[in-house]
Amino acid sequence: MAEFEPVLLANIHQEDSHTLRAYESTGGYAGLKKVLGGMSADGVKELVKASGLRGRGGAGFPTGLKWTFLPKDHPGPIYFCLNADESEPGTFNNRILMEEDPHQVIEGLIISCFATAASTAYFYMRYEYPLAWKRVQAAVDECYAAGYLGKDILGSGYSLDIFLHRGAAAYICGEETGLIESLEGRRAWPRIKPPFPAVEGAFRKPTVVNNVETAACVKQIVDRGAGWFRSIGVPPDPNNPRDPGSFGPKLYCLSGHIEKPGCYEAPLGITVNELIDNYGGGVWRGRKAKAAIPGGISMGLLTADEFDCPLDFAGPGKYGCLGLGTAAVVVIDETVPMVDFLHNSCQFFSHESCGQCTPCREGTSWALKMMNRIKAGKGRLKDLDLLLEIADNIGIIPGTTICGLADGAAWPMKNAIRKFRGEFEEYIKRTNPDGYMETNPVPVLEIIGAH
Ligand SMILES: Cc1cc2nc3c(=O)[nH]c(=O)nc-3n(C[C@H](O)[C@H](O)[C@H](O)COP(=O)(O)O)c2cc1C
Ligand code: SF4
Repeated sequence: MAEFEPVLLANIHQEDSHTLRAYESTGGYAGLKKVLGGMSADGVKELVKASGLRGRGGAGFPTGLKWTFLPKDHPGPIYFCLNADESEPGTFNNRILMEEDPHQVIEGLIISCFATAASTAYFYMRYEYPLAWKRVQAAVDECYAAGYLGKDILGSGYSLDIFLHRGAAAYICGEETGLIESLEGRRAWPRIKPPFPAVEGAFRKPTVVNNVETAACVKQIVDRGAGWFRSIGVPPDPNNPRDPGSFGPKLYCLSGHIEKPGCYEAPLGITVNELIDNYGGGVWRGRKAKAAIPGGISMGLLTADEFDCPLDFAGPGKYGCLGLGTAAVVVIDETVPMVDFLHNSCQFFSHESCGQCTPCREGTSWALKMMNRIKAGKGRLKDLDLLLEIADNIGIIPGTTICGLADGAAWPMKNAIRKFRGEFEEYIKRTNPDGYMETNPVPVLEIIGAH
């Protein structure tokens, strides 16, 4: 692998890095000019496909492939939604890009829209990001004034409008079809798929949904080429024909009990240990780590013994986690009781479930009630198996829900209990010495009271 040079964060320490003047002074919009000056939409699609770029929003779906799902020669409008909802706990890489280098994102977005023949882009941004909102809007205004947006961009005949849309302040607004429902003015209830957005999305028209970091990668690929992108990261596993590899740079958000929390750019495939030691300055206060979340809380948990896990799209799955997710690593030190961790996680998912699917709505709130009871010293050993039974039966993977929020709720439960069972059992026995072996159903009033 060639020596790694950060590109996504290369500009953020420049003075006024968010302005068009600063962006253009480092070659900004040269890629857009190259694309509009001589490349075809199919040419850009092929370039992105050849790069092996996989979406950075959580699912890791190949970006170029997703674009080819749009109907050919569609007579009506095609829409592009840029997913800037950034709702996964621990994740803030989109915020850094939008606040410090919004033009990089916008250039990537315009190129992506050109490649997919989209005539309108909706920039759907998390409600809680006022500075990002201000800077992205200012950057969009600068683009209109400079002829990078609007009608007949740079005399190419291609026209595009970008509208900013403020998110509705809920985790589920980041799920792509929840986002589309919210954009259309409704409650962000995810849609049953198929049809997927590429066929029927915003306003029932073909729509692409991509993450902010994905758009920034598209800009870098146009500037530097598919070969450059593929020279970074992890090639496909030859023993797994379904593995497309994990190429390119990645923004890792590192937080929790760490000396130097922050957003770091590194090649895909860096291990958790390398991220903590080489970038984060080690676990804080000289303590030991107990566990870490590998890619947002919905991906589950790694134990400290599993920190050799590579943070590429395939890595966390090999350690029993759901996946790489958003690559947001949250370090948990040795002082944190796992009961507290899981209680916190269950509170989050129960609160954020949109309520459409019974297994998710009831499963997440039932799990929270049990965790409330365990935390309050009324837990039973039997509850651990019950929690696992819930976790194994909610989500897209067991096929019982519309969207992946329930899988995200299930994985912290599965990993915490299966990887730290001894600690849970010890807590239950210590805090409920007379009742931990109880197997009779818990009286309803006790459940309600505990909640
Ligand atoms: C509950 C839930 C929340 C999500 N939140 C986000 C989010 O905040 N930002 C994001 O880009 N993708 C989020 N996703 C993934 C999106 O549905 C979608 O896969 C992604 O925006 C596609 O972009 P990409 O291909 O560039 O990764 C979420 C998915 C689920 C199930
Ligand atoms: S899985 Fe949960 S969040 Fe997703 S649609 Fe069903 S109820 Fe809503």
